[in-house]
Amino acid sequence: MSTTPASIIGAATPRIDGPLKTTGAAQYAADFNFEHMVHAVPVVASIASGRILKLETDTAEKMPGVLLVLHHGNIGPLYRTAPGDDNATNGEVRSAFEDEVIRHWGQYVAVVVAETLEEATAGAAAVRVEYEPQPANLRVSLDDYAGARKTGSERGDFDSAFADAPVKIDATYITPIETHNPIELHASVVVWEGNHVTLYETSQGVVNHRVVMAQVLGLPVENVRVVTRFLGSGFGGKLFPWPHAAMAAVAARKLDRPVKLSVNRRMMFSNVGYRPRTEQRIRLGASKEGKLLALSQSYLNVTSQLDDFDENCGEATPYLYSVANLEVTSGMVRRHLGAPMYMRGPGAVPGLFGLEAAMNELADQLKLDPLQLRTINDAARDEDKNLPFSSRHFRECFEVGAKRFGWERRTPAIGSMRRDGKIIGWGLAGASWVALRLPCTTTVEFHGDGRVSVRCGTQDIGTGTYTIFAQVLHEKTGVPLERIDVVLGDSALPDGPMSGGSMVTGSVLNAIAAAAANATKRLLQLASTTQDSPFHDAKPEMLAFTEGQVHKKDQPAATGTPFTEILRHARLNGLSAEGKTQPSWEDPKAKGFSLHSYGAQFVEVEWEPEIARLRVSRVVTVIDAGRIINPKAAANQIAGAVVMGVGMGLLDETVHDQRTGQPINGSMADYLVATCADTPDIDVTFLDYPDPAMGEYGARGVGEIGLAGVAPAITAAVYHATGVRIRELPVRIEHLLQSKILEA
Ligand code: MOS
Repeated sequence: MSTTPASIIGAATPRIDGPLKTTGAAQYAADFNFEHMVHAVPVVASIASGRILKLETDTAEKMPGVLLVLHHGNIGPLYRTAPGDDNATNGEVRSAFEDEVIRHWGQYVAVVVAETLEEATAGAAAVRVEYEPQPANLRVSLDDYAGARKTGSERGDFDSAFADAPVKIDATYITPIETHNPIELHASVVVWEGNHVTLYETSQGVVNHRVVMAQVLGLPVENVRVVTRFLGSGFGGKLFPWPHAAMAAVAARKLDRPVKLSVNRRMMFSNVGYRPRTEQRIRLGASKEGKLLALSQSYLNVTSQLDDFDENCGEATPYLYSVANLEVTSGMVRRHLGAPMYMRGPGAVPGLFGLEAAMNELADQLKLDPLQLRTINDAARDEDKNLPFSSRHFRECFEVGAKRFGWERRTPAIGSMRRDGKIIGWGLAGASWVALRLPCTTTVEFHGDGRVSVRCGTQDIGTGTYTIFAQVLHEKTGVPLERIDVVLGDSALPDGPMSGGSMVTGSVLNAIAAAAANATKRLLQLASTTQDSPFHDAKPEMLAFTEGQVHKKDQPAATGTPFTEILRHARLNGLSAEGKTQPSWEDPKAKGFSLHSYGAQFVEVEWEPEIARLRVSRVVTVIDAGRIINPKAAANQIAGAVVMGVGMGLLDETVHDQRTGQPINGSMADYLVATCADTPDIDVTFLDYPDPAMGEYGARGVGEIGLAGVAPAITAAVYHATGVRIRELPVRIEHLLQSKILEA
């Protein structure tokens, strides 16, 4: 019996891959094992800056089980990626094992390969490295930056408008280095067959990973295959390849044996990216009624010695509000740290912390409800690109959220709201994230055994990609979910997008719909042309395909013939067709529009001044992300992002030892993330307006938007409860101790 609901689009379908995950049958990269496989363990630098004077590997090489010690002196060529391909990789990969220079603590200096993991670990511990240390710049604050500022966006004349504005905010907002910390560690398992290599990877983009590895290893791209069947998340840290994949690949080639290299948790804090520290000066000029007259955001972000990493804090700034005079400028500040990498909502999430916190301060200064300030300054069109929005319901997010939260009961005076002996603080902030439809290809196949499959070279980062693809295929074919196979996570499949930028849903669904339509057309043609088919006399236009049955259009589906019968008469084992997504920038229905998702975050904190305890107790979040394909998976994304936002507001921060550059809290015991005990009561609402620019399904994707706006809503609630204005994340108890509430 089918468990498929009548209307599958918008149904809270459980994960089709859930049973595989809960029974342990789902294979993550490090779960792949091969005969004669050996293990690689890296040796990492213990200084932040300097040179390797001597690498003593003799002892390690003589240890039991040790087969190989690779380092910059013997690894042979690892090629750089071509100029212009810089987005395909990061500086760490470009410089992997290239020279004796140490640019950050934890940089790989050698890798020991042995028969067992224990032997490789012991071998790695026996490698002796002598360094010539050089002064390292590990300064946390970026305020020493004296370099040029790059202009990102500009309109009107900010300087004179700000000078003339009757009401002003001028403040600097700081977000710290945060580490992605997906539960699944990065790993590579590499198998060579002659001159062909297969990498089982923790990759958010198997297609790009394949291209980069081909370049780095000096192979034709068709000789490389990358497989990522399941991901234990990534948060952006797995978007691009890191050096360990190349190290494992070279080791496997030299030994002619499969190699497994799993990055350990401590290395995860130094070698696979982080959200860089940002320092943003925000200046707002407004009229006494609260109309924005001038807006400037000037931000700095930290980067490594090799990368030109721009955190793009101005992502949402130029279009979110209506303001005639605006400038966004930026600069990057080099430190002796590993390479930064995009992290959930890169740019917009830290950028909106600055902008939305400043908007809340402006509302307080004007004695205006912060919700009203957003309403007054809502934008009717994208004033940066000078384009209409495809679908924007930013104001409605606030209106709906205010009702669900009970915002009208807020009394604005600091510390004025109490419940159960605790002080209650309420705050809000807006959220936004970009939408795009990327080009991609899928194939849909009707199989002789009655199953239908869709194949695409994208991957499921853990968000429900497998499930929503099955939903769309069910909608198009009527074949029940139990007989649908979604095949993802392999670079040998038709080119699909990275699991990044919340863009998979909006991009791939269109290609699935197109492939299903093409396959159906071929099936009906087959039904009409095949000798023994019951529809041999009918023109394909007279036929329809419903609930897995071919039938005459003027007759009910129940009178039809299963597609397997048609295939059998034609002596075919299967029939497939391709479908493509036209990118939004080529589609006349999309290219003249500004495409974004929106949201509103309402936060309640509980403050107990006697014991200096602060807790986020309640969050109401309203999201405008186009049509929601699966409200269960989507609400799960938003709630998870809100929990991450509690971490960003109160806990997340990577701290480096100023002497060595080692992350001091580089373990899951020391790095604080929000746990179940920190999780507030979360209420998620979707507005569910299909975005016509996104194609048939009107879905924009929900992976990142839920994190935007949480942290500034928290600091606004903290101010409301405690009277302490916190502009640097995370909120710390020592700052809250400045609260004068008890004295009042
Ligand atoms: Mo996301 S930071 O685009 O994986």
